[in-house]
Amino acid sequence: MAQESSILITGGAGFIGSNVVEHLLANGYQNLTVIDDESLGRLKRVDRPGVTCVKGDILDEALMASLLAGADAVIHLAADTRVIDSIENPAYNFEVNVVGSFRLLSLARDAGCQRIINASTGGAILGDAPPPVSEELPARPLAPYGAAKLAVEGYCSAFAGAYGMKTLSLRFSNVYGPLSFHKGSVVAAFYKSLLNGRPLTVYGDGEQVRDFLYVGDLVAGVRRAIETDATGVLQLGSSVGTSINTLIALMAEATGRREIPVDYVPARQGETRITWCCIDRAREVLGFEPGTRLAEGLANTWNWFSENVTVFK
Ligand SMILES: NC(=O)c1ccc[n+]([C@@H]2O[C@H](COP(=O)([O-])OP(=O)(O)OC[C@H]3O[C@@H](n4cnc5c(N)ncnc54)[C@H](O)[C@@H]3O)[C@@H](O)[C@H]2O)c1
Repeated sequence: MAQESSILITGGAGFIGSNVVEHLLANGYQNLTVIDDESLGRLKRVDRPGVTCVKGDILDEALMASLLAGADAVIHLAADTRVIDSIENPAYNFEVNVVGSFRLLSLARDAGCQRIINASTGGAILGDAPPPVSEELPARPLAPYGAAKLAVEGYCSAFAGAYGMKTLSLRFSNVYGPLSFHKGSVVAAFYKSLLNGRPLTVYGDGEQVRDFLYVGDLVAGVRRAIETDATGVLQLGSSVGTSINTLIALMAEATGRREIPVDYVPARQGETRITWCCIDRAREVLGFEPGTRLAEGLANTWNWFSENVTVFK
């Protein structure tokens, strides 16, 4: 995909989307369109020269058809992203994540837009699988969010098989970094607690292990994805497992605090104990190389949170 190509980014005003937009602009892309309903993201964060901002719902067929008519590629990030919300309201999650994605694929096919990069997830699709998890493992989603992401991977594969579209699903691990103030994920939640002078809440003993990927590394992988014709499913993670207790120790260093108060509360049911992912395939196919050490990424993220806290309060 050349830099003058027209790229539609759904959910592009959210955490990952606004980082993708910044990264693409910095790498010479100048014809970006962002559609976001602002249910979580804010379009003003991506309102720059080279970016057309559209406030709207991916379920709006007429709007999506008009946006797809001129698009060379889609980076599909819009979703109901909270696992807990999907348990409380699975029908809404199905509507946005499955119906919205299916319509997007159908309309893209009709418009002749063949390249679709679909944001998927490793952990929520695979459930409790022995690490390092790979693309080959059988799927066992434990919540409607994971089931929806798995269904969309299936439709992406089917639209490649049946209609020759070039669809690629990228399974992101736990992404953290700047522009994530609105997120409830662990790094963002912990930093917000620190800024508000509250203890961190840890579910269980803190020895659960996750794969934390810095958003700067992730967006480089997403750009590589639109610059190749790769199809199928690829995992994007750091390939390093880190316990929550180790994360907190690294946060103490990143924030210059000697001690961080923590409230340990009972573990949540259905939470995966230990997971990290193998990224050999993404390395081979995309040249994906996440180079940011966790300590460095946490320091960058803390700087961003500290500088922007008043903007979001
Ligand atoms: N952040 C992570 O660690 C992570 C991990 C795995 C997968 N993902 C996936 O990556 C994608 C982006 O996640 P994120 O962390 O940036 O989340 P986010 O919530 O910050 O971004 C999602 C954006 O989609 C928008 N949106 C929601 N419903 C919409 C609709 N119906 N129409 C238009 N816009 C809509 C929201 O306003 C928001 O700006 C999602 O598909 C998510 O499932 C994220």
